[in-house]
Amino acid sequence: MGHPMLNAGAMYCIHIRIVPAYARLDNDRISATVTRYLIQEPRMNHVGTEAMPRPAPSPSHATHMTVASDGSIVVPPEVARRFGLVPGAAARIDIAPDGNTLSLRRPISSLAQVYVELTNGCNIDCRTCMRNVWSLQTGFMDDETFERLRVQIAEMPVTPTVFFGGFGEPMHHPKTTEYIRAMREIGAEVDLITNGTLLSEQRVDELIDAGLRRIWVSLDGARPESYSDVRLGASLPLVLRNLERLRHRKRLLSRTKPELGVAFVAMDRNIGDLPEVVRIGLDLGAEHFSVSNVLPHNQELNGQTLYDNEMARWNPRRADIDLARIDLNDPRVAEAIRGVLSAGSRTRGSVDLGFSPAGNRCPFVDKGSVSVRWDGSVSACLALLHTHTYYVGEHARTSHEHSFGSVTDQTLTEIWNSPEYVDFRRRLEEFSFSPCTTCRSCERIEENRDDCTNSGHPACGGCLWAQGFIRCP
Ligand SMILES: C[S@@+](CC[C@H](N)C(=O)[O-])C[C@H]1O[C@@H](n2cnc3c(N)ncnc32)[C@H](O)[C@@H]1O
Ligand code: SF4
Ligand code: SF4
Ligand code: SF4
Repeated sequence: MGHPMLNAGAMYCIHIRIVPAYARLDNDRISATVTRYLIQEPRMNHVGTEAMPRPAPSPSHATHMTVASDGSIVVPPEVARRFGLVPGAAARIDIAPDGNTLSLRRPISSLAQVYVELTNGCNIDCRTCMRNVWSLQTGFMDDETFERLRVQIAEMPVTPTVFFGGFGEPMHHPKTTEYIRAMREIGAEVDLITNGTLLSEQRVDELIDAGLRRIWVSLDGARPESYSDVRLGASLPLVLRNLERLRHRKRLLSRTKPELGVAFVAMDRNIGDLPEVVRIGLDLGAEHFSVSNVLPHNQELNGQTLYDNEMARWNPRRADIDLARIDLNDPRVAEAIRGVLSAGSRTRGSVDLGFSPAGNRCPFVDKGSVSVRWDGSVSACLALLHTHTYYVGEHARTSHEHSFGSVTDQTLTEIWNSPEYVDFRRRLEEFSFSPCTTCRSCERIEENRDDCTNSGHPACGGCLWAQGFIRCP
């Protein structure tokens, strides 16, 4: 008997990755659902119809390393290049909790992605946005800074992906498409995240024509009123019309790019909309979804978080449903996730229910990324681009910005290879910071200036990104 959530004859293919045990799924309904997938469904890890056979693994997944006679491991050259496994590089090995899987992290010397904040300004005013809690001037990257950055990227031995994002609206910058085109000319893949309000027909055509690889659109609600309740000043019907136009123009021009991704920031007020957001996204052709918790910048948002019980765990071996860490035993969340699985079953894509070790991993270091602010200042992550405040439990914490230099007077490669930055990435990889997020027992939780192991600024032990609560595409 098939799973009740799977429609007979529908086009689906659900991939469930289970690494440790699913015992951590302590919600009855969730664990029952996962258990049914695993036990009742004979094809177990992968459920598909005859008409939609399991796709062959892509070469990048099927590739093998070999062990040479001297015991060294030989990696295929293309993989070595892609992951920065050059002679002398040190790549950390993790052993999965199942004891059977070794994974190799990207060496911290490998620069794979450059986040570029074209502006910190925006045309709307989301309830969630960090821009509400700062008093910074609005700035736009100028041509000179952009050109320096572009040349610096062009000179790198392996061209990193460029991601136009940060804390502002990239489409609010007058030269976004020109800049995408310029990055494409040097061979960089370019992704972008947008609120989707400024995607006029002309700009959609420009984005397609410029060769954008992926466009992430933030959809924080599935109904006009719940969407506008978060995204103040924006209208869901308008954004959906824009996305429909994108889909239509791609079809008309026989183009597959840009792929669509949907980003959702989960809170008490909108978690119920998540399944419908996934359905809407799938109808619009979305191939990627990213679900984050809200980084609570004020008391009101702090009352809206959905990870409080997870935060209280000291050694969480948690279920990572490819969503951010979230309270799985909260019936509202459980219901939403069931809906997401059900929506996912309509596609050829996959919904991963991965279980991975808990936080204390900097996602920006894992990606081999660096972040460049609109004025050229270089930080290790988006969070350190601007000073801002957020809550860790009941404590307001000010995260002071931190920069390793500026592309206006050094190259990105010089900054990336500077001893201070290399050392910081090494500490992030080891995550040798005090566990402030869970401890919260002294006043050092209130700032990222230092911790009780004398980490100095920035002390990352109170970072909600590293704990897996906050995500970004
Ligand atoms: C800051 S925005 C910049 C890009 C663009 N303006 C947008 O809204 O998509 C990048 C992502 O951060 C999300 N975001 C905004 N405020 C957040 C918060 N307090 N916590 C977590 N994510 C947040 C947005 O929803 C968006 O998906
Ligand atoms: S659209 Fe993006 S940058 Fe603008 S206010 Fe919303 S989250 Fe902030
Ligand atoms: S741990 Fe957090 S604050 Fe530190 S570099 Fe990573 S994302 Fe930034
Ligand atoms: S600095 Fe140390 S004692 Fe203070 S909150 Fe962080 S981990 Fe706890």
